[in-house]
Amino acid sequence: MRYHHLGRVPPKRHVQVRRDGAGSSLLVEEVLGYEGFSGNHSILYRLRSPCAVERVGEFRAIDRDEWVPPAHVHRLADLNGVPAGGDPVTGRRLLMANADIEVWVCKPTEQGEGFYRNGEGDELVYVHRGGGVLRTQFGRVAFREKDYVVVPRGTTVAWELEDREQFWLVFHTPGEVETPTRYRNRYGQLLEHAPFSARDFHGPEELETRDEAGEFVVVVRVRDGHQRYVLGRHPFDVVGWDGYVWPYTFNALDFEPRAGRLHLPPPAHQTFQGPNFVICTFAPRMLDWDPEAVPLPYHHSNIQSEEVMFYADGDYTARRGVGVGSVTLHPSGLPHGPQPGTVEAALGATRTDELAVMWDTFRPLALTSLWQAHDRDEYAYSWNDAVDAG
Ligand SMILES: [Fe+2]
Repeated sequence: MRYHHLGRVPPKRHVQVRRDGAGSSLLVEEVLGYEGFSGNHSILYRLRSPCAVERVGEFRAIDRDEWVPPAHVHRLADLNGVPAGGDPVTGRRLLMANADIEVWVCKPTEQGEGFYRNGEGDELVYVHRGGGVLRTQFGRVAFREKDYVVVPRGTTVAWELEDREQFWLVFHTPGEVETPTRYRNRYGQLLEHAPFSARDFHGPEELETRDEAGEFVVVVRVRDGHQRYVLGRHPFDVVGWDGYVWPYTFNALDFEPRAGRLHLPPPAHQTFQGPNFVICTFAPRMLDWDPEAVPLPYHHSNIQSEEVMFYADGDYTARRGVGVGSVTLHPSGLPHGPQPGTVEAALGATRTDELAVMWDTFRPLALTSLWQAHDRDEYAYSWNDAVDAG
């Protein structure tokens, strides 16, 4: 991200900064950064040491509950039937994972009792339904439907939920969630022809500085599990910060879609990158305009990637039997493309109102019992002329 700051920041780093002038206590400077001291970082000024712990609670390992499907085929799961419940952390249910990425479905109905921090990965939350405010030590970040909410590791958060249905996809990666390198110039600024600009990324706007004693539960994801702590002071005691690391939102409808005279491949829709994966936004757009154009994807054998697509809004013309809230997995090793009839039906179309979020991974994905519970195994046969995907 670009440079951003909120609150009180001294003119130089690593100097004495006092809370209220001479005689008052020193502020605690905390550098929060990637790649040791070489990556992007922010510097926060706190009222007290962030290391203080009142009590150390239990550690719970993450249970992955893998499902090994009986056959290697294209799959569809309808996530509308996943029951709601839990809070933004306990309500997460793992859908698929590999060493580079995990995808969880979360439909929280409760705020949660305390605070959460991912200490071993970046998180990206796609808000299919819902909205609210992500409270963090960097300040408050409002989020709404169709937002990608990007939360750098090390960010302590509390989710304030609007009183409405919440339906999220939560991505975790041990790597970094970034905008694609190829959209940036040598200084890091987004290029003029990138499908979004700095104005589309919304960071914290209001700092929340709490100087409170009490009991504050913080759950930290570390070592493939959740470690619970009780702090004696409110974790949001930051009076100012600046730097390049902060949580932000990007709304899927702010992605400026690309179209061509003839069909453009999925990288035209790329929105984020991570280690061995990409995330793309298929936003409502004009379709390929040559009179001879086939305005749907061509068949492809993705021999080195898994393609997963979540249908977020509108009507996805290339797929039969796929509705909003469902997800398809086209695994490596098999060709896929539009189902019979959909190409003929799409000829001459000038625009699509589809909105889909796609993640492609370069390493195989393992599925879980959550996928198994919502699997629609007839999807594997949906390319057969006589069989409808239903
Ligand atoms: Fe594909």
